[in-house]
Amino acid sequence: MSDNTEEQITQNVLDSMAQTPNPRLKEVMSSLITHLHTFIREVELSEEEWMAGIQFLTRTGQMCDEKRQEFILLSDTMGVSMLVDAINHRAEDGVTENTVFGPFYREGAQELPMGATISQDGRGDPVVVMGRVLSTSGKPLANALLDIWETDENGLYEQQDPEQPDMNLRGKFRTDSEGRYCFVGIKPVSYSIPDDGPVGRLLRALKRHPFRPAHIHMLVSAEGFAPVTTHLFVKGDKYLDSDAVFGTKDSLVVDFVRHDSTEEAARYHVTAPFYTVDYTFVLKSR
Ligand code: BEZ
Ligand code: FE
Repeated sequence: MSDNTEEQITQNVLDSMAQTPNPRLKEVMSSLITHLHTFIREVELSEEEWMAGIQFLTRTGQMCDEKRQEFILLSDTMGVSMLVDAINHRAEDGVTENTVFGPFYREGAQELPMGATISQDGRGDPVVVMGRVLSTSGKPLANALLDIWETDENGLYEQQDPEQPDMNLRGKFRTDSEGRYCFVGIKPVSYSIPDDGPVGRLLRALKRHPFRPAHIHMLVSAEGFAPVTTHLFVKGDKYLDSDAVFGTKDSLVVDFVRHDSTEEAARYHVTAPFYTVDYTFVLKSR
């Protein structure tokens, strides 16, 4: 144990954790140390590079507060969040796929009646999103809850933008007895994740852009069923193949169909031009 040579040090650290009572902690820490040491040996990390890494992590921590979680952004942009998500929500036949939760959800959105709009400022082109929530056997799920959030047409969530009303573009909707839901949002735009911190600098150094393809977030839940945290992405968006946080999945890319008829718009209490989306969510029982 006292001979902390390049060859011996990894085993010494592993031995030092031998008495860890929690077996999962022991497994995770042992694997982490093994991979970390292997990585350092593989790239032959210089002292300057090690210090740059320490400073990067320090700045990442210093950037965090109640409104900004730079470590989650780091995890998202390195594909870690989506890998954890993929392992914990393996795709199952027909079940709506999960994707990244993101840092912009807020508790406490108002429950709104079927067909109501979540836009409080009237900006952007309306989109009527409708469909059903079903079980894997095709049974309609009545009283399922859809918790929706999206950015305004400027690509900012309301908590990022002092110009927007509080809780703008957020709302909860319940399905009816046939599992149907309907709400009005706005056609989402692609937007930049916050890139004014250390993660943004890293992306620029890696010649990566900070954009996410246009999407609407939803958390869909029903009593007795596993909830799904997901998005609907706009088909044709130019960032679908290069999402800064690797959140896209083919099954979540949908047609936003444009309509120009004022008569049709009146049926949904929106103004033309407007868009419609039809999407069925499928939940699996717990
Ligand atoms: C979002 O879609 O809101 C989001 C997800 C990950 C990082 C930043 C934003
Ligand atoms: Fe988002």
